[in-house]
Amino acid sequence: MIDSTDIDINEADWRLRVFDALSFPTLILKPDRTILAANKKFYERNRARAAKIIGRTCEDILSEDRTVKHMSCSGANCPLQRVLESKENQSVVHKKIADDGEIIWEERVFAPILGDCGEVKYVIESLRDITKVKHLEKKYSDVRQLIDKVVQSSVSAIMASDRKGEIILMNKAAEELFGYSVSDANLVNIEDFYPPGVAREIMKKLRDENIGEVGKLPSTQVNIITKKGEQIPVEMTSAIIYEDGQEAASAAIFNDLREKQAVQKKLEETENQLFQSEKLASLGRLAAGVAHEINNPLTSILLYGNLMKEKLEEEHPLANNLNYVLEDAERCKEIVKNLLAYSRQTQPAKDVFYLNNLVGESLRLIRDQKLFMNVKIIKELDDCQILVNADKNQLCQVLINLIINAIDAMEGRGTLTLKTYRDRKEVKAYIAVTDTGSGIPLENLSKVFDPFFTTKEIGKGTGLGLSMAYGILEENHGKISIEHTGPEGTTILLELPEEPVSNEFQFMSIG
Ligand SMILES: Nc1ncnc2c1ncn2[C@@H]1O[C@H](COP(=O)(O)OP(=O)(O)OP(=O)(O)O)[C@@H](O)[C@H]1O
Ligand SMILES: [Mg+2]
Repeated sequence: MIDSTDIDINEADWRLRVFDALSFPTLILKPDRTILAANKKFYERNRARAAKIIGRTCEDILSEDRTVKHMSCSGANCPLQRVLESKENQSVVHKKIADDGEIIWEERVFAPILGDCGEVKYVIESLRDITKVKHLEKKYSDVRQLIDKVVQSSVSAIMASDRKGEIILMNKAAEELFGYSVSDANLVNIEDFYPPGVAREIMKKLRDENIGEVGKLPSTQVNIITKKGEQIPVEMTSAIIYEDGQEAASAAIFNDLREKQAVQKKLEETENQLFQSEKLASLGRLAAGVAHEINNPLTSILLYGNLMKEKLEEEHPLANNLNYVLEDAERCKEIVKNLLAYSRQTQPAKDVFYLNNLVGESLRLIRDQKLFMNVKIIKELDDCQILVNADKNQLCQVLINLIINAIDAMEGRGTLTLKTYRDRKEVKAYIAVTDTGSGIPLENLSKVFDPFFTTKEIGKGTGLGLSMAYGILEENHGKISIEHTGPEGTTILLELPEEPVSNEFQFMSIG
């Protein structure tokens, strides 16, 4: 099939046979661009005979091809020209649209055939259909773009670093979580994203065959460090990325645990409160029943005892004994009164008042007592007047109990701090009572709000103070909690909903 006049066929016979056997359509061009020879595949491709091909330029033939929409090899782009200048291979890609509309990509590769003096004597041009490669390239780039979109739009923070720990990928969620932008993340190392030693520990676990599959770390809880230096608890999974069996990078996915932990804490608190109020409610009913039963005989004891006292001469040998009976009966009456108050189901008599006034009034009620002699009292009252809507008498009773508890814990010597403050965002008002006493031992923490739990000697405490306080705060839509306790002292916190300031209060003088 080779038509060659310029080449000595005999001498080049086997070479020409090889040329004809090539699986790509191939031409041999002269430096003036005219076609010297074409192989069998080329004729098949162009459905042409030698007469229509030989002696013409490749540009001519290309321009006849209806499917070629854009000639990327014309003018200065002529690869043949570039081969002549560089004496090196050159290539060009043509995009063609077939009659059925399908896009065909064709690469034309030009290679020099050098003469004895190193000059380019001929140029061999071979045409390769690279449509399949192009389709694969497109598919690959589409998949890459899709992966990029998935990574970027993920709500989980995703980050990858190379073997040296330099950040190579950070999605938007990671930028938000860590507070770095991709550009400043390049300046720091992966180790800076964790507390000291944690990044190395993670890598060690990733390589440990006893922890999951090698190269994969199952879900783990760690703390990360943000750009501002804040530590955030996260749940993370991590993996090593291998290339040809070698570690090339590592990637990790992080989920912020702050919200989940806050919800969990709230749930636990609510469960505890529910348990406590159920316990108090049933104990309250029991206490009310017992108190009622005891109240009637007690009234008789006091009534008849006092009648006897009136009749008995003061010097009578039994007068003293009767006095003891009456004193203890009075004490019982006081306990029964407390019990009934504790189990009382009445609605609180609510009123709007300033929180600071409550502190002042409660202190005034017990100030004269001897027990304050060696106690330093510090009042840290909020400058902004905080209003609450609650039963002031009930809360006064609560505060007095807290103050007496604090003094008892300090054994009459130490510092008592009463602090009022507010949380504007949460619309809550607080009173914190802090002492420098001995603290509540861990084993008593869950019991101090139980009725009748006391560590005080008989006759000094009934153990009803904190349980009544719990009920009163609940009735007033507030909370009582042990904010802190330890050998250096205890802080009990009262929380109440803050009342918005009405006009009436804006102009009222503060009493
Ligand atoms: N500030 C405190 N520091 C250390 N322990 C405390 C403090 N407040 C309360 N407690 C412990 O909690 C227990 C229960 O307190 P609560 O006020 O309910 O009863 P009480 O003070 O013992 O008796 P009551 O208040 O009925 O006179 C106390 O006996 C004490 O052991
Ligand atoms: Mg008490």
